[in-house]
Amino acid sequence: MHTIHVNLGPRSYDIAIVSGDLTGVGTFARRRVKSDKALVITDENVKGQAERVAEAMRAAGCAVHLAVRPAGEGQKSLAVAGELYDRLVEFQADRRTLVVAVGGGVIGDLAGFVAATFNRGLPLLMVPTTLLAMVDSSVGGKVAVNHPRAKNLIGAFHQPVGVWIDTAVLDTLPDREYRSGLAEVVKYGVIMDADFFSYLEKHQETIIGRDPERVRHIVARCCQLKAGIVEQDEREETGQRAILNYGHTFAHAFESVGRYGSWLHGEAVAAGMSCAARLAQRRGLVPEDVTRRQNDLLRAFDLPIAPKRWPADALLAAMHNDKKALAGQLRFILPCKLGAVAMFDDVSEAEVRNVL
Ligand code: GLY
Repeated sequence: MHTIHVNLGPRSYDIAIVSGDLTGVGTFARRRVKSDKALVITDENVKGQAERVAEAMRAAGCAVHLAVRPAGEGQKSLAVAGELYDRLVEFQADRRTLVVAVGGGVIGDLAGFVAATFNRGLPLLMVPTTLLAMVDSSVGGKVAVNHPRAKNLIGAFHQPVGVWIDTAVLDTLPDREYRSGLAEVVKYGVIMDADFFSYLEKHQETIIGRDPERVRHIVARCCQLKAGIVEQDEREETGQRAILNYGHTFAHAFESVGRYGSWLHGEAVAAGMSCAARLAQRRGLVPEDVTRRQNDLLRAFDLPIAPKRWPADALLAAMHNDKKALAGQLRFILPCKLGAVAMFDDVSEAEVRNVL
């Protein structure tokens, strides 16, 4: 087991990275919380894995209820959160009842939001089953549901009590989902680790082939990088954590105008990073080489590097609706070199239109 500690004082926790040991989560959880009840929240796609987690929790002495939701971004709503609160009430949940999220980013955000708000906060355990959730959304405590007009608008910071990552569950992840997760992996290289970016370039074939050793390495490195950022800026107040939003101002607009059905999150992030790099290049922040290397790597992972033919007006309107827009001003994270980015609040609409 490889363990990464996220040092947040009283909210500190461990990220455990294992391979082929989903049931070890029972002991891991019991060592961290005194809960004797757990609500395991999952979706239809990974119901089998969630049942194994539920069994492990029972073996560790917990009474367990399983809530299986349909898959998809549509689940991140207040209405669905309301149904899960009903389940917790029926289960006579108390403040020690553990919420366990077994799934990808949608389930983690939804279950996390329920845990953050029910009874003023329940302990939360993350068991991510997609690459994207392993390297990003399960770590750092951002939880949310969507407002009909903007993604993740209703949310909180609620750190988990632990994150249990079994990289072997990725063996059954659909190829498109796996590649979508690779977009966030590339993101870490561009924003803060040029050596890691080179590693991804060098080993792209074995990474696409899901070589277990490579997968463990990229998951561990991304978690380590993310843990470092979250430790410095837990609530995204100083600008340090905001660098994780590289490509996301564009990506959220692509998801919103595409009505969340068109692209997976990572696909939108890939096209968003490509737009952001081109914008940086036009500003003279980076040479053409940086944009080219990033695009080549994204393309090798079969990810899009340009938006679909969505109207620029609609995309700009969506960007202004995004919660990351401050008092009407769009905010962009742009590369300054490979492995370093900075935040810009002075990007004009014309510059944005140019790269769309
Ligand atoms: N996914 C961006 C963050 O956790 O801050």
